[in-house]
Amino acid sequence: MGSVRWAFRCGSWTPSRSDWLLAARCIQREEKDRIGQFAFAKDAKSAMAGRLLLRRFVCERMGIPWSQIRLERSPRGKPYLAAPLKVSSDSGPELPAWSFNLSHQGDYAVLAAEQGVQVGVDIMKTTMPGSISVPEFFRIMTRQFTAYEWSVIQSAGLENQQLAAFYRHWALKESFIKAIGTGLGFNLQRTKMHLDEEEEEDWIFEESLLDADHHIAVALGPADRAGTAPLCSSLPPPTSFTLLSFSDLIASASPLTAEDPSCWESFNMKAEAPQRQRETHTSK
Ligand code: COA
Ligand code: MG
Repeated sequence: MGSVRWAFRCGSWTPSRSDWLLAARCIQREEKDRIGQFAFAKDAKSAMAGRLLLRRFVCERMGIPWSQIRLERSPRGKPYLAAPLKVSSDSGPELPAWSFNLSHQGDYAVLAAEQGVQVGVDIMKTTMPGSISVPEFFRIMTRQFTAYEWSVIQSAGLENQQLAAFYRHWALKESFIKAIGTGLGFNLQRTKMHLDEEEEEDWIFEESLLDADHHIAVALGPADRAGTAPLCSSLPPPTSFTLLSFSDLIASASPLTAEDPSCWESFNMKAEAPQRQRETHTSK
């Protein structure tokens, strides 16, 4: 069964005019328009990388020509493949459906995909809270975790280790929320994250560190089918994330729309990130 883990370092990506215009031609028009509306280049680049990761995955792993891929979003925003509905395959046995999910935060955009199970992925970068102390930041976030989870986070060691534990827990919960596709509004206090507890025995969580401060969690859960074998016996061993370049992202792409030079002009005028994020970034 197939398993895909890809990452793209959009934080250090400085697209040339021709790269950006080509990328903009290779995604759906409504996504190009959405990306054009971001105030900061950082957000535009991570959203663009996400679209290219998705399309590259559908093209290369699901075998659908780039120009035929039609991605839509659920009412809560989760992308899914709307067309073609059925991948044409030779008469062989029907393979389990793919599930995929994207996340972008910090310096990376990541994609996780798996066959036969539901997938959610979340990446979180450990960053110091800007103008408040770590205990104050935790106080504001109290409701996000259970008392047990806070005890684990706060016993992680020094403040930066506690922050890393906080973001690890955050990514784990988000990956689950994203696998089930609910988005905002889900009560995080309900999520059971102790992997030894019976309640979540059908779910598997993979954790990786892309670098020292980027945590990734991938949640793998049963697809909506009765009678499936226990997950742990049906999954391949965890795959590590492969870092892709822009040329990799665009390798099987074909343009869907005509070149729109205004797309570059507006991108080129955007500041990279809000002032504070830029300071945090450069002060490292
Ligand atoms: N379910 C799964 N995936 C979704 C989704 C949903 N409902 N809505 C969007 N996505 C996908 C999209 O591909 C999106 O990227 P795109 O818009 O560029 O295509 C990507 O997930 C965004 O994921 P990520 O970068 O990890 O963003 P996020 O962590 O800020 O957002 C959502 C996660 C999308 C589920 C968000 O709507 C949300 O509700 N988050 C919960 C917020 C919260 O209270 N968190 C507390 C954690 S302790
Ligand atoms: Mg996230």
